[in-house]
Parts: sequence; C-alpha cells; structure tokens
Amino acid sequence: MVCYFFQHSKMLLHLVFLALQLHLAFADDSPLEVFQVEAPLRATYEGASCQQVVVQHEFAASYGTPYVGTYSPPKDCEFSTTIFNISVTSSGINYDRLGLLYFGDIEVWRMTTAMPVRTGIFWNYQKDVTVFDTLIRSEQTVIMGLDNIYNSVFTGTYNVTITALYFNDGEALTPAEMILPISTESSCDNKISVISLPDGDGATSIVFPRNTERAVVSILASGNGAEEFWYRNVLTEHINTFNNTNLSGYSPFREVQLLIDGELAGASWPFPIVFTGGISPGLWVPIVGIKTYDLPSFEIDISPWLGVLCDGTEHKLEIKVVGYDSETTLGTVGSNWWVSGSVFVWIDHHGSQTIGTPVTSNLPPPDFHSSSQFTTDFGLNASLWSELTARRSLSHTSSVTTSTGTRQLTFSQDLSYGNLQNYSASSFNKTLWSQSKGTTSFTSFFNDTLIENSFAYPISFTTDLINPEDFQTTNSTLVAWLERSAQSSTVPILSYLTNQASAQVPGVVTTRQKGSGTYFWNNTYYEFAGAIDPAIGTNGTTEQWYSSKGFLGEYGRHVQAVDGYEPVLILDGEHDHVIQMT
Ligand SMILES: *[C@@H]1O[C@H](CO)[C@@H](O)[C@H](O)[C@H]1NC(C)=O
Ligand SMILES: *[C@@H]1O[C@H](CO)[C@@H](O)[C@H](O)[C@H]1NC(C)=O
Ligand SMILES: *[C@@H]1O[C@H](CO)[C@@H](O)[C@H](O)[C@H]1NC(C)=O
Ligand SMILES: *[C@@H]1O[C@H](CO)[C@@H](O)[C@H](O)[C@H]1NC(C)=O
Ligand SMILES: *[C@@H]1O[C@H](CO)[C@@H](O)[C@H](O)[C@H]1NC(C)=O
Ligand SMILES: *[C@@H]1O[C@H](CO)[C@@H](O)[C@H](O)[C@H]1NC(C)=O
Ligand SMILES: *[C@@H]1O[C@H](CO)[C@@H](O)[C@H](O)[C@H]1NC(C)=O
Ligand SMILES: *[C@@H]1O[C@H](CO)[C@@H](O)[C@H](O)[C@H]1NC(C)=O
Ligand SMILES: *[C@@H]1O[C@H](CO)[C@@H](O)[C@H](O)[C@H]1NC(C)=O
Ligand SMILES: *[C@@H]1O[C@H](CO)[C@@H](O)[C@H](O)[C@H]1NC(C)=O
Ligand SMILES: *[C@@H]1O[C@H](CO)[C@@H](O)[C@H](O)[C@H]1NC(C)=O
Repeated sequence: MVCYFFQHSKMLLHLVFLALQLHLAFADDSPLEVFQVEAPLRATYEGASCQQVVVQHEFAASYGTPYVGTYSPPKDCEFSTTIFNISVTSSGINYDRLGLLYFGDIEVWRMTTAMPVRTGIFWNYQKDVTVFDTLIRSEQTVIMGLDNIYNSVFTGTYNVTITALYFNDGEALTPAEMILPISTESSCDNKISVISLPDGDGATSIVFPRNTERAVVSILASGNGAEEFWYRNVLTEHINTFNNTNLSGYSPFREVQLLIDGELAGASWPFPIVFTGGISPGLWVPIVGIKTYDLPSFEIDISPWLGVLCDGTEHKLEIKVVGYDSETTLGTVGSNWWVSGSVFVWIDHHGSQTIGTPVTSNLPPPDFHSSSQFTTDFGLNASLWSELTARRSLSHTSSVTTSTGTRQLTFSQDLSYGNLQNYSASSFNKTLWSQSKGTTSFTSFFNDTLIENSFAYPISFTTDLINPEDFQTTNSTLVAWLERSAQSSTVPILSYLTNQASAQVPGVVTTRQKGSGTYFWNNTYYEFAGAIDPAIGTNGTTEQWYSSKGFLGEYGRHVQAVDGYEPVLILDGEHDHVIQMT
C-alpha cells in the first residue's frame, strides 16, 4: 500500500502500453490469454533441477474417454518441490468443462476450463503438488478426464499439456509415506475414480498401519447439473413456486462430510465455485473466476482418531454431501456431486503400535433458521423471498501415544452460513447474497498448540432475464451483476506436515471480483457462440483485486477487463510484485 502513490505516475504509461499491445495482438488474431489472478508460487520458476511432460493430449470428443498414460519419476534428479504447470489452448465454440487429473486412484488436481473464443484462447497455471511426494517418486498410471463434446456445433477442443517442474530447494521434507484413496478405485479399468453422489457409494474400508503417526484426509467436491449452483437452490417444498419453471431443491445449503465409522469427523461448507459459463459467460473473459483452474480441496486432520484407527481392523471412511431439509434437518441432495478423497498417512518409524484414548467429541447438531415470503399476481406466485442461516461447531480430541511420546491432538471447526434470495418477476429475476465462513483448527506438529485457519466466502449477484416468454428460442437477454470475494488465513495442514520449515507462515489471501454483463442468445446464436460481441448484445466488465502475504512475501494485483477482446485494461499492473523476505 505504501508504494501506491509512488507507482501511480507510471500507471498511465503502463496502461497505454498494454492496451496498445493487446490491440496489436488482436489485429493478427493471436489467441487471448484467459487468466486466473493468483500469486506466483515462487519468486522465479527458473532453475528447475529437471522437468518432464506428464500429460499431452488434445481432448476432442472425449466424453467418457479419459487420457491414460504412464508417469515415471525423474532419474538422476535431486528435488524437494514439485510444481505442475498446465498449459491449455482452445479455439471455437464450447462450454466450460471439468478436468480431473488422477495418479492411479488418487485425484491430484481438479480444474475447469475457460470457454474458448473463435480466435483462440490459452492459459497456463501452476499448482504445487509437493504433498503428493510419495506418488511423484514412484511409477503411476496417469488418468485425466475432461469430458468434452466435439461436433459441428461445439467446435472447440482442449489441447492440454501438463509439465512437472522439479526444484531442489534444499529442504528436508517429511511427506506422507502413504496416500490411500476414498474413490471408486477405477484406474485398473483406465477410468477416473471420481465418486458421483448421491447415487454412488462414498464409503471405503481402510486398515491403517498400526504405527500411523499422523493422518489427514483431503477431499475434493464439486456440484454438477442441479447442484452446480447449489447456493441458489430453494427448499424442496418451494421448487414448484412458479408456473413457468421448476427451481432446484434441497435448499441452498450444502455440507460435505467426512464420516469415520459413521461419526462426523469434519465438514466443509464449500466455496461457491463459478465456472466460466456460470451466471453470465461475459464475466469470465479474459479474467476467469476465483479458484477456477484449481478447485479447492479441504483438509481434515483425523489424527485424534488414531487410537481407534490403529487397531489393525477395517474402518469405514465415508464422504457424504447433505443439504438442509426442513423436515429431517439434513438430508440428501440433487444430482450430482463429484467427490473423491485422499488419506495421507505418516508412519512412526520408531514405533510399532500407536495407542490413544477414546475420542472426546463435542458434536452438537447444527442450528438452522429459515423463513420465506411470497407475493402473488393474478393468482400465481410472482416472487419468492427466502432466508436461511446455519451454524455448526465440532471438535474431536484425544491423547495419542507414539514412539515420540504422548500428545493431545485436537481437530475442531466453527462454521456459519447465511443465504438470502429473492426470485421475482415470476422467477426470471433473481438476486442472491450468500456467505460461508468459519475456522478450522488442528494441533501443531511440535507441541499442543492449536493452529487456526479461517476463511470467508461471500458472493452476491443479480440475474434478470429480458424477453423471457420463450427463452429457449427467441431473443433473450440476461443482465447480470456480481460481486464476490475469498478471504483466508491458512496454514494448510498437508503442506505444513510435509514441509515444517516453510509452511508455518500463514498464507493470508484477500481477493474480490466485481463484474456486470449482458448475455444474448436465440436459437441460432447461443451458448456464448465463441465470442463476446457487443454488437449482438453480449458484453462484460470484470474487475479484480488480489493481495496475499505469506512465506514468499507480499503480492498484489488489480485488473479490469472490458468486453473480453478490447480494450483490456490492466489498471495498475505495475503493482504486481513479489518481495522475497529474508
Ligand atoms: C508453462 O508451460 C507453458 C507452455 O509450455 C510455458 O509457456 C510457460 O512458460 C510454462 N510456465 C512455467 C512457470 O514453467
Ligand atoms: C497441442 O499442443 C502441443 C503442445 O503445444 C502441440 O505440440 C500440438 O501440436 C498441439 N496439437 C494440436 C492439435 O494443435
Ligand atoms: C405458490 O408457491 C407455494 C410454495 O412453493 C406453492 O405451494 C403454491 O402451490 C404456489 N401457488 C401457485 C398458484 O402455484
Ligand atoms: C401456467 O403455465 C402453463 C405452461 O407454461 C400455461 O399453459 C398456463 O397458461 C399458465 N397458467 C397461468 C395461469 O398463467
Ligand atoms: C415441474 O415439475 C412438475 C412435477 O414435479 C412437472 O409436472 C412440470 O412439468 C414441471 N414444470 C416445468 C416447467 O418443468
Ligand atoms: C424481491 O424483489 C421484488 C422485485 O424487485 C421486490 O418488489 C421485493 O420487495 C423484493 N423482496 C424483498 C423481501 O426484498
Ligand atoms: C426484472 O428485471 C428487469 C431488468 O432489470 C427490470 O426491468 C424489471 O423491472 C424486473 N422485474 C421485476 C418484477 O422486478
Ligand atoms: C509450539 O511450537 C511452535 C512452533 O515451533 C512455536 O512457535 C510455539 O511457540 C510453541 N508453543 C508452545 C506453547 O510451546
Ligand atoms: C430478434 O431481434 C432482432 C434484432 O432486434 C430482430 O430483428 C428479430 O426479429 C428478433 N427475432 C425474434 C424471433 O424475435
Ligand atoms: C439470432 O441472433 C443473431 C444475432 O443477432 C441473428 O443474426 C439471427 O438472425 C437470430 N436468429 C433468430 C432466429 O432470430
Ligand atoms: C452491455 O450491453 C448493454 C445492452 O446493450 C448495455 O446497456 C451495457 O451498457 C453494456 N455494458 C458494457 C459494460 O458495455
């Protein structure tokens, strides 16, 4: 912030330069970079010890047909940190697609694509995968699913290259020795191992090594179809409120649960991911939504359960997704959620049997409040206003004894949720405000101190449909406005246990997106049609602020994009900076 005025004078120059550069770029139809605003993972990506291509595949008509290949660890290469660099190109017309990268039965990375434009797009994104170290140092079947439709209408393919970059940062890592799947374990059939809920079975039986020292479960979960925008769903009793459309049900509240032998061990009140076709496609060119290229996983330290889990018998770990149900409090959800989990296990090399006291759990039922109001017009419902709030806290504690002594281990969470919606104009106009926030705490590696992570994910938007009478075929326009943020202060449990030296500094991230756009379609010009085209009535403006502070230093960026193509104005790109701290 101190450098703001200092750098201000350079801003105009920089801005003009960038705009000019982009004009020139488009004059020769160069592909457009569609980017996610994110701090770089390192001060520089130069100096890798070695690198290799992990996936190179063009996803065309790839529905149900994943890429399958083999990964071999690098030979004669000293490394500690591993970063995957994805590079994707696409041109033509297509939807956003979900991509899932598996190493065997373990999901390593879940992402969505940007929507292409006719003249082509590209993006690069880097993900630190060091926590998967044990997989990275052994031979693996690589399976990447990216279900794409490719025909005379949907002409965009996704050409994907993932390169592994190996860096020797001279750090003594303590990675998990074993990573066990909570998945369908379908790699032998050359399929991705994602579990579809609520129809699939989210449970796995696991026999833990008797000398497990620490265990953490990481879960990926995202909604599709009637669950893609779960936060704008309504109570099931309200789905038939309007005469012309049915709303999606099971409430706008979702909880992704991890159960151990039937008991709730931890929960996520998920980040409201918005894919690049979401709300209004013009909002996401060329700045894509927060976390689009790397859907967030969440981590549950199950170490307080080790006294129970290390008894040499099978234990059931299950992932569930539930919604609020006015009659039974928590119940099933619509179709569908794609989930998978990874159980990271650290071994006590000097011990043969971990023992522990029974888990002391504080697990009160969640607390919900909900209310609704209707207005009617000519005997039909004209608007539905609804409010839902929720709170939950839980904690699990036990004394666990390994070869290094006895430790008190705790995992606790405190979560809250609020959702306000107003469906009006017989459901064609919608406004929404929603927020999940909370804290998660786990016990330090060194002593009984609790490390607290906190997050807040507010989102609000309005979408109004103009000319809605027959919105499938005749001229329709959607007018949208959006504002959302993600704020977090975290010591990710897996990174912390994998690299105790550097991962102790909490990463503090605050980012906000604000945008508006109109989106036109009819029966010949539809689904974004591969371009923002203000002449036809599809446009968008998105502005994003990003700041982060962590082990590497501070980083900030403020960008604005108007109508995708031109002009793209990088407001104060001069503020992009990483400061290496000593
Ligand atoms: C990622 O890959 C793309 C395509 O090869 C390349 O242009 C880019 O420089 C790479 N990024 C990093 C950080 O290596
Ligand atoms: C896909 O990308 C790779 C790597 O950049 C390139 O070698 C290949 O030609 C591309 N394939 C197509 C069909 O464009
Ligand atoms: C109005 O909405 C309520 C609640 O969803 C529903 O029970 C009722 O049948 C609706 N009325 C009409 C006329 O559709
Ligand atoms: C309700 O919707 C149906 C089907 O769209 C339509 O035929 C009917 O006229 C509508 N009812 C009223 C009262 O508008
Ligand atoms: C809404 O659902 C009811 C039954 O649940 C069905 O009869 C009706 O056709 C649906 N209406 C629309 C507009 O999809
Ligand atoms: C819902 O929206 C309608 C239309 O904009 C408005 O008249 C009504 O006051 C809103 N309801 C609430 C409770 O805000
Ligand atoms: C619905 O939204 C449109 C466009 O913003 C607006 O003109 C109209 O008044 C709204 N209708 C209601 C009932 O709020
Ligand atoms: C616990 O360990 C951390 C990390 O080594 C240290 O910063 C902290 O002061 C310790 N707390 C106590 C109460 O010893
Ligand atoms: C759609 O809008 C265009 C331009 O306003 C008009 O020429 C055309 O007739 C409209 N089509 C329909 C089916 O209403
Ligand atoms: C759909 O919109 C496009 C762009 O305005 C126009 O060229 C086309 O004629 C429209 N189709 C119909 C059926 O209105
Ligand atoms: C987008 O188009 C609409 C309708 O043509 C217009 O009212 C609005 O100002 C445009 N917005 C931007 C950001 O260009």
